[in-house]
Amino acid sequence: MIKFINETVDYLKEKGFDSPEIGIILGTGLGQLINDVEVLKEVSYNHIPNFPTATVEFHKGKLIFGKLAGKKVVVMQGRFHLYEGYSLQDVTYPVRIMEQLGIKTLLVSNAAGAINLNFKKGELMLIEDHINLQGSSPLAFKGVSQFGERFVDMSAPYDAGINTKFKSIAKSKGIKLHEGVYVSVVGPQLETRAEYRMLKIMGADAVGMSTVPEIIVANHLKLKVAAVSVLTDECDPDNLEPVNIEEIIAMATKAEPDMVHLFKELIESL
Ligand code: HPA
Repeated sequence: MIKFINETVDYLKEKGFDSPEIGIILGTGLGQLINDVEVLKEVSYNHIPNFPTATVEFHKGKLIFGKLAGKKVVVMQGRFHLYEGYSLQDVTYPVRIMEQLGIKTLLVSNAAGAINLNFKKGELMLIEDHINLQGSSPLAFKGVSQFGERFVDMSAPYDAGINTKFKSIAKSKGIKLHEGVYVSVVGPQLETRAEYRMLKIMGADAVGMSTVPEIIVANHLKLKVAAVSVLTDECDPDNLEPVNIEEIIAMATKAEPDMVHLFKELIESL
């Protein structure tokens, strides 16, 4: 894997990806943040050696280097999901690349369903902790200790300092920002009523199909991380409405201005 990583990193450095400080994974609901980035370089995922190939058609699949709020950033426009058939190592490969390019902080967004019924669709949730229900770990491979400790501490996977900043920005801008536990599932099917009940009993506030693998690898690499979910549907097992992906995307789009604002201000404050 080290050989592959070196090839990818050399390629991107040659393309002008020059020591970014912050990595950003633009999930559903944060795509418009790119409009605020002064784009200096961009490369399609399918041109980057050893990168997994983008398949989700509503993501554009590009790695972007630029400036945002005076900071050098590397932005993933579109991410890889387990449900597309990638391995957990594939899904997290870009995090290892961004770390090798120089990032010290990783910021992540995603779309999630609200398990906590005090949280409403269209609102945002800062991830305070997570539960990994994707069945394996992105660190479960031979040679993992070449990259960092195998038995990674997960007592505080999300950076408390960044989270405090997120909360104070939200407060000062009048943006509703809940705080809670995100549980990752494989998907792509949504949950049954029985599964939503189980997730609630487990202690989850929101459920989604991404983010946790990237956060685990970021902790492996000792990056500071923070993540925000846009809540796109309400997972009330006793009144469950059939959801469809169009509705989920529409909700994410509705919350996007708040999400973009929050991230922009946060990056400015770092
Ligand atoms: N479940 C899983 N993933 C999701 C959901 C959900 O209800 N909503 C958005 N992503």
